[in-house]
Amino acid sequence: MEKRENWGSKIGFIMAAAGSAVGLGNIWKFPFTAGQNGGGAFVLVYLIFVALIGFSVMLTEFAVGRRRQLAAVGAFKSVDKRWTFAGVLGVLSGFLIMGFYPVVGGWALAYVFKVAGGLLNNPGAIGDSFGAFITNPSAPLMWMVLYLILNVVIVVKGISSGIEKAGKVLMPLLFGILIVIAIKGLTLPGAMAGMEFLFKPDFSKLNGSVVLAALGQAFFSLSLGMGCMITYGSYLSKSENLVQNAAIVTAMDTAVALLAGIAMFPAMFAFGMEPAAGPGLVFVVVPTLFAEMGAMGSVFALMFFVALTVAALTSSVSLLEVVVAFLIDEKQFSRKKAVFSSSTVMVLLCILASLSLGGVGPKLFGTGAFDIFDLLTDKIFLAIGGMLLCIFAGWRLKKEDLYDEVTNKGTVEFGLFGAWYGLIKFVIPITIAVVAFNGIRQGFESGSGPIMILGICIIGFFAAISKKL
Ligand code: TRP
Repeated sequence: MEKRENWGSKIGFIMAAAGSAVGLGNIWKFPFTAGQNGGGAFVLVYLIFVALIGFSVMLTEFAVGRRRQLAAVGAFKSVDKRWTFAGVLGVLSGFLIMGFYPVVGGWALAYVFKVAGGLLNNPGAIGDSFGAFITNPSAPLMWMVLYLILNVVIVVKGISSGIEKAGKVLMPLLFGILIVIAIKGLTLPGAMAGMEFLFKPDFSKLNGSVVLAALGQAFFSLSLGMGCMITYGSYLSKSENLVQNAAIVTAMDTAVALLAGIAMFPAMFAFGMEPAAGPGLVFVVVPTLFAEMGAMGSVFALMFFVALTVAALTSSVSLLEVVVAFLIDEKQFSRKKAVFSSSTVMVLLCILASLSLGGVGPKLFGTGAFDIFDLLTDKIFLAIGGMLLCIFAGWRLKKEDLYDEVTNKGTVEFGLFGAWYGLIKFVIPITIAVVAFNGIRQGFESGSGPIMILGICIIGFFAAISKKL
């Protein structure tokens, strides 16, 4: 068998995996989801899920990917055709996430130019201008297409050359700017209320929906549950320490999410904005905050949106790569053909998603395309995908093989192997099943229930035809 392409260097892999994990999920989604779900209690549950479930699932994805030396679908299929559907579900998730992610990536790109064009000169109008922009039927489409083209260029160039370089440079910059924003926000009068909202749990706010949202956020933010880290793991050299890599990536991702929260909430409370403000949060708070700093503020805001765009790019290329790897490995497409055909489908989905924010286009159970794609993946497919992977690894693969893989044939120490194995075999599948069940039940009160049930039916359908996939 041909030797698989490997990452150029250890730091290259960590940067690429962290680059996949750190993205809009941390900086755009985490703050507004925390805001909509009541703050502190959501954040606490999220952190518990990251530590217990996220880290373990990431390690499992790395181990399965490197063991099988195949991308998501192949990794399942080469063991047992009845499991092919679990990989195919990941490819479907890749399509659906890429059906809205580039829309938001396009906003970030657009804001680079808006800031450069003087957006901060009129601080009072920043909020309204965001609302007007995303509900506009044409302007966001142009930015989305531009953003997707950037993805296509990177992914056509192949794995180590394209993805690795982008991640190395801009991640530290993003981290630095978030720290600047956080410090600035924390010094505003009334900022402490924001920290309290974010970190002081009010357990009366917890319910099935909030807990499922925290689980979904953990999976989404860490790029888990759709074979992304399986694919990346399959390119990882046999001498790398998987446990350490999973720990570093999980820690970096969580640090950026928390930092983004600390950058957003104090400023929001100081400005008297609603914590449940929704998807516009970063696009309104960051420019408003920097508008107070004069010319320097514009420079910082510009750097922020450049860095946000690149963080988004290093994530979306990993999503596109899952779909592309599937088409190359399983359907014998050339890389070019795989990239162009899949991104064509993604453009169409993104057009639906973008238009739905202006109230245009088809709806299902009263929900527009953007929210449908988000609900299906974030609340159902990723968590269930992670659950299936754990069941597959725990019950279908040999324990000795897993041990060999995570300890590099016994050469690296992993004292918690037994605990991790118990988690993926029993605790995580049961926890996810319970959380999903309660979340769906509660979803019937807020109107998202039918879509989630639809998601479960889609999974059932794929499971039933697994051998034919
Ligand atoms: N984790 C990325 C973010 O936070 C998004 C992402 C990239 C993703 N690859 C993924 C989410 C795979 C789920 C699965 O922006």
